[in-house]
Amino acid sequence: MIIQSEIISLKHLLTVEALSDQEVMGLIRRGQQFKLGAPWAPQKNQYFVSNLFFENSTRTHKSFEVAEKKLGLETIEFDARSSSVQKGETLYDTVLTMSAIGVDVCVIRHGDENYYDQLIQSKTINCSIVNGGDGSGQHPTQCLLDLMTIYEEFGHFNDLKVAIVGDITHSRVAKSNMQMLKRLGSEVFFSGPEEWYDKSFDVYGTYKPLDELVDNVDVIMLLRVQHERHDDKESFSKQEYHEKYGLTVGRSKRLKKKAIIMHPAPVNRDVEIADSLVESLQSRIIEQMSNGVFVRMAILEAILNGIS
Ligand code: CP
Repeated sequence: MIIQSEIISLKHLLTVEALSDQEVMGLIRRGQQFKLGAPWAPQKNQYFVSNLFFENSTRTHKSFEVAEKKLGLETIEFDARSSSVQKGETLYDTVLTMSAIGVDVCVIRHGDENYYDQLIQSKTINCSIVNGGDGSGQHPTQCLLDLMTIYEEFGHFNDLKVAIVGDITHSRVAKSNMQMLKRLGSEVFFSGPEEWYDKSFDVYGTYKPLDELVDNVDVIMLLRVQHERHDDKESFSKQEYHEKYGLTVGRSKRLKKKAIIMHPAPVNRDVEIADSLVESLQSRIIEQMSNGVFVRMAILEAILNGIS
């Protein structure tokens, strides 16, 4: 029998910084329990959740839907392209409406960093907000599924060497992960084009050329090149990027036997990572996608604990 020993209760999940270490570990362990088939005991018969995605998504959107269905929650369909957003309705008014009609939780992805500030300051909006990604700001649910995947592999974070490689400036995944990995005791390294690195990241880790890192790291976390967030034309071709900053087959042979390869996906195959490595033995990219469902179940449960 699986016993839930840690009851976590959250009003919102907006950033990973706002979570205590105990809450992070509790959500990871609860995700693991859900993966093993743990049941959930809701305090009410009916909860309504709406997934409001204003930026494209496959993994986050669909794994939230699966998590909601596994928990027996009522998912209220929302498509910005066929909603009153097309008549000029603001994000605030969309969420205000969801709250007024009885939606308990809004999972939101939006292009504006910190879009959630005005929502949580509202005295009229009562629903909980789960951040499914805010521009180049944060991606807390991806961070938690990444942490769950690392924890499953190593059983700890302390003293693990983790390289975060690629388009770091534009990556909300990188920002959430660097903060939390450093806090949990991992040694963080960065690599990738210098123009996509910011000195402000130095407080979390050390920037090095990839060839100085591949032999030593326990985790290599590749990031998608975020073409949609680049104002200027990129100064290298896909092939040049792959050879200089990507995980090539050649570099992968230098990884430690127990090192794992991660990528939040979607993957630009043969750019950030060689096509043949995406589903290779050392890759945990598919596991990350699967774990997304279970950690999101843990997050939704914690949020519903907070409003019951
Ligand atoms: N990793 C991730 O956030 O993927 P999606 O953009 O498909 O949700």
